[in-house]
Amino acid sequence: MAQKESLKEVFKNDFLIGTALNSFQIQQKDTAANRLVLQHFNAITPENSMKATHLHPQWDKYNFTLSDQLVAYGRQHNIKINGHTLIWHSQLPAYVKNLNNADSLKQYMKDHISTLAGHYKGKVFSWDVVNEALEGDGSLRKSIFLKLLGDDYIIDAFRLTQQAAPDAELYYNDYNIEGLTKRRAAIALIKKIQAAGVRIDGIGVQGHWAAVHVPLADIEQSIQEFSALGIKVMFTELDLTVLPSPYKRDVVDVSQRTLPNTPATNPWPNGLPDFKQAELSKSYEDLFKLFLKYKDKIGRITFWGVHDGQSWLNNFPIAGRTNYPLLFDRSYQPKPAFYAVIATHHR
Ligand code: G3I
Repeated sequence: MAQKESLKEVFKNDFLIGTALNSFQIQQKDTAANRLVLQHFNAITPENSMKATHLHPQWDKYNFTLSDQLVAYGRQHNIKINGHTLIWHSQLPAYVKNLNNADSLKQYMKDHISTLAGHYKGKVFSWDVVNEALEGDGSLRKSIFLKLLGDDYIIDAFRLTQQAAPDAELYYNDYNIEGLTKRRAAIALIKKIQAAGVRIDGIGVQGHWAAVHVPLADIEQSIQEFSALGIKVMFTELDLTVLPSPYKRDVVDVSQRTLPNTPATNPWPNGLPDFKQAELSKSYEDLFKLFLKYKDKIGRITFWGVHDGQSWLNNFPIAGRTNYPLLFDRSYQPKPAFYAVIATHHR
């Protein structure tokens, strides 16, 4: 049965509420999920279909079919679209990964950005222009872009997008940038883009956290520091894992290449116990209280998926686990965390 309260309605004066759509949902084949999308969300991000491997599989070949469907769906239902993502080291087709000279990579970047951003000019509300360009230690990621083009490829990517889609908002998107080391690096990066006279409108903090410990103090600090740069803050890929991290020494040896799916690493294949459900709700509640406190600085909160069954966290970092990171369960029903989030607004 459909619940009465709608996330997008409840938070309509605060920030956009987004979700990520997979290919079935874009094609409207996951009808129960599509009902939830229309009821609760006013922003969508394609989970995969605008990535280079999908959209630009060969030098001269673009596959717009699926992302055109996403854009048409969004426009039909008055849902804002965030394009994800133009320049990313991952999900790059082999013909790009194998390039060995700066001129060719520059040409790729120019063609890729002007074709995608141009194709969706006036239709896509915002672009994640550059994704995950920072390493954990705050240095620039040693991607093919950095190696062949040098530090300024990021400024160039923003400049090219600005030219091709002058009315789209332009964002830098990354994970763990709420933490001190990457936060400082992201701030330096944004200042550098601004100093070059190139537009950047916002920063996307991905928000892949663990329910057992959401870094609230870091998140608050990062909202303050990022917004002080004169840009909007977005939480772009929110989900809270409830499963044990295999990277802890007591669970599994990190040197193992294939991480085992065992009762210890996948403890709740048949349903989340009440104490974990309560932990998830409390973490979401704390987060949304914080988001509301800074609603004038936050543009959008996007969940990375509509319901638990589709989450990438069922397959990462161990394949075939049963995770419960979102607000709707595998039967498309709102979880206690959903009601906890709604209640933050009514206090
Ligand atoms: O489409 C192929 C399919 O044809 C094939 O049969 C199947 C077999 O593995 O793979 C399918 O591709 C998978 C794709 O998801 C679509 O399901 C890829 O293997 C898989 O690697 C890919 O994972 C995505 C991942 O990004 C890598 O692009 C996840 O769904 C997606 O949730 C995840 O999203 C990223 C954000 O873009 C950036 N931030 C981190 C976030 C989580 O990793």
